[in-house]
Amino acid sequence: MINIKDVNPAVIETEYAVRGRIPIRAKQLEEKGEIIIYCNIGNPQAFDQKRLTYVRQILSLCENPNLIESPPEDYPADVIGIAHAIVHASGGLGAYSESKGVCFIREAVAKFIGERDGTTGIDPESIYFTNGATEGIDNVLELLIDKDRKTGVMIPAPGYSLYDATIKRRHGKIVRYYPDEKREWKLSLERLEDSLKKAKEQGTDVRAICVINPNNPTGAVLSREEIEMILNLARKNNLTVLADEVYQENLYNDKKQFISFGKVLQEQEESLKKQNKVLELKDKDRVSLFSFNSCSKDYLGECGARGGYVECRNVPEDVQAELLKQFSMRLCPNLAGQVLVHALVCPPKKGELSYDLYMQEKTNILEEYKKRAGILFEGLNKIEGISCNPIDGALYAFVRIKLPPSKTDDDYCMALLEKTGICVVPGSGFGQEEGTFHFRMTILPPTDQIIKIVEKLKVFQEEYCNAVTSEE
Ligand SMILES: Cc1ncc(COP(=O)(O)O)c(C=O)c1O
Repeated sequence: MINIKDVNPAVIETEYAVRGRIPIRAKQLEEKGEIIIYCNIGNPQAFDQKRLTYVRQILSLCENPNLIESPPEDYPADVIGIAHAIVHASGGLGAYSESKGVCFIREAVAKFIGERDGTTGIDPESIYFTNGATEGIDNVLELLIDKDRKTGVMIPAPGYSLYDATIKRRHGKIVRYYPDEKREWKLSLERLEDSLKKAKEQGTDVRAICVINPNNPTGAVLSREEIEMILNLARKNNLTVLADEVYQENLYNDKKQFISFGKVLQEQEESLKKQNKVLELKDKDRVSLFSFNSCSKDYLGECGARGGYVECRNVPEDVQAELLKQFSMRLCPNLAGQVLVHALVCPPKKGELSYDLYMQEKTNILEEYKKRAGILFEGLNKIEGISCNPIDGALYAFVRIKLPPSKTDDDYCMALLEKTGICVVPGSGFGQEEGTFHFRMTILPPTDQIIKIVEKLKVFQEEYCNAVTSEE
């Protein structure tokens, strides 16, 4: 019989906080009849978020192509036309597709990226569909990490736990860089270079840098200057960039907009070519970029479909052949996820029959997110001992807590769960800076629940700190 000693130590050592000890305890409490408010994970439809009619109509027709011939009366013609085109191009959802994903849908993604960024020349052959962005991130990290070479990967701290966990599982070295919490999580070149230098001094071969924009868990949205800073650092130090852009539509501060790494890279390279008066840049002046997107976030919130893609720039053919080999081993990404990626990148256009309803549903969802982010931000900052930077993007508040000296954020989150049923994730699960304590909670609960959560947190914070201080 298999014994725990037979298990790969890298798997045992890996921790994944968003589904870790606290949520496991929450499940146990729920089974005993306690009411739990799950704020630990960005899973919109678990909070009864409305499924977009357009998206689900297309999916249901593709799932059952017989309906395309005799569709339900309320299915508009544009939806029927798209479903027909997808089924025709893919051979239906029951067949494996190309390992990269259906070409017709990859072409739609290339067009979407070009239109979003105002750029040209996006190659559908450099786009690979994945079962959620997660699979793409895992495969690209696997492609880059060589245990024997002590490959290091820079990741934001705080940052989404997947990166930490995957680098460990793939035997890489984690190199954290620290956005400045006191300056609303702004990046500084000094801090980036400092992390890189220390890692190199310890013998780590730093090969890549991951960025999450907008960031999970901090909600920070990168400015053009910050993106340029990262690309320049990458160019100077021969780092591959992994840009996680799954929250690109989740923006709540009118002064901040999403700018893709692909766009800035292309513009930088155009300007370098002009400066150097050349038609093609030398390899040393080019930065390899893998950008990730997903249908789990934004306003679709289709987490269960596991649809996503990775787009490669400046990745040579022989390297892409290896990536394709990795993706070929899973045969193909799931087809329903690919259909949803199509819906993500090809929303109905003005004048089309689905347009008005689509826009109404989309706007409602995004406005609700914005409202909840605002209520949370204001409410949390009114609580003594609790503070939080503005939630400019993504789906979370990353909340700083003052704790009695004997306690950690892990203790705090467990006590919060036991006392109030609110399930959040300790900041330690996101690689927060030493000596600081936080928890992450999602902004997804409905507004009335968010208000109650803030009230409960206020009472809990006071009671917890008083109780612990008097115990000590
Ligand atoms: C920053 C970030 N990247 C990737 C993912 C994974 O997304 P997917 O559901 O597409 O695998 C998440 C999920 O929460 C995330 O927050």
